[in-house]
Amino acid sequence: MKKLENKVAIITGGTTGIGLATAKLFAAEGAKVTVTGTRPETLEIARNELRGVADVVASDAGSGGDIERLARDVKAKHGGVDVLFLNAGIAKFGPLTSFDEALVDEMFRVNFKGPWLAIKHFAPLLRRGGSVVLNASVVDQKGMPGTSAYAATKAAVRSLGRTAAAELAEAGVRVNVVSPGPIETPIYGKLGMPTEAVEAFAKSVTSQVPLRRFGTPDEIARVALFLASSDSSFLTGAEILADGGLGNL
Ligand SMILES: NC(=O)c1ccc[n+]([C@@H]2O[C@H](COP(=O)([O-])OP(=O)(O)OC[C@H]3O[C@@H](n4cnc5c(N)ncnc54)[C@H](OP(=O)(O)O)[C@@H]3O)[C@@H](O)[C@H]2O)c1
Repeated sequence: MKKLENKVAIITGGTTGIGLATAKLFAAEGAKVTVTGTRPETLEIARNELRGVADVVASDAGSGGDIERLARDVKAKHGGVDVLFLNAGIAKFGPLTSFDEALVDEMFRVNFKGPWLAIKHFAPLLRRGGSVVLNASVVDQKGMPGTSAYAATKAAVRSLGRTAAAELAEAGVRVNVVSPGPIETPIYGKLGMPTEAVEAFAKSVTSQVPLRRFGTPDEIARVALFLASSDSSFLTGAEILADGGLGNL
């Protein structure tokens, strides 16, 4: 028996990286998947890669109008939703003292307001037994240099996981958080740091991870599947660190 047979699943930020891997896994487990993204080039690649597997929709996770429209379209097509994987996120790193204020606003808009908007607009569509999975990060509980604003957005996401779990429990909907450690995805090419600085950062992080490696998108997709499916039926408001031991050890 497939774990998400005939479930309707929405994945924000599913054009690359963790979201793309999760879309493939959810679909293989029987879900009817819709993924979102924003950039024409990534949307195009994802449409090719997910043909016959998932719907790919241009939708800005941080825009109330876009999310409201997405919820309306999903309702029209599927009637309701069983799984929300709120994964869309951006990361910009740099020293706090020289960090650009506009980047702080943009990260909070996408990383925090995004999932907040999705829960707001999709809550009425979530069916009893439904599951919301938020993608935070192990940095939500660490003081890693260069991550002042990014880490704060993820701490806010982790907090949202608790409040939303409390508010949606009555409706029979669970809300949980997956917090990855370093995962090999395109996000490292978008940090806004020179290549050498990114390489030095990756080396330093790897040395701090007890399992001594980056994780793969598929390793996070499998945790998202666990939280999305009834395998985790007694978990709500919880956080799973999928981080090679970085946060706990
Ligand atoms: N990789 C890691 O080490 C790591 C660790 C901890 C947590 N995470 C979290 O994992 C999530 C996925 O990241 P990733 O590593 O898979 O990176 P990624 O490959 O850069 O994926 C980010 C995804 O989010 C989408 N996205 C970005 N801005 C968006 C917006 N405004 N609206 C809708 N979609 C948007 C991107 O699509 P477009 O490019 O098409 O817009 C892409 O599909 C993020 O929340 C990230 O913070 C990653």
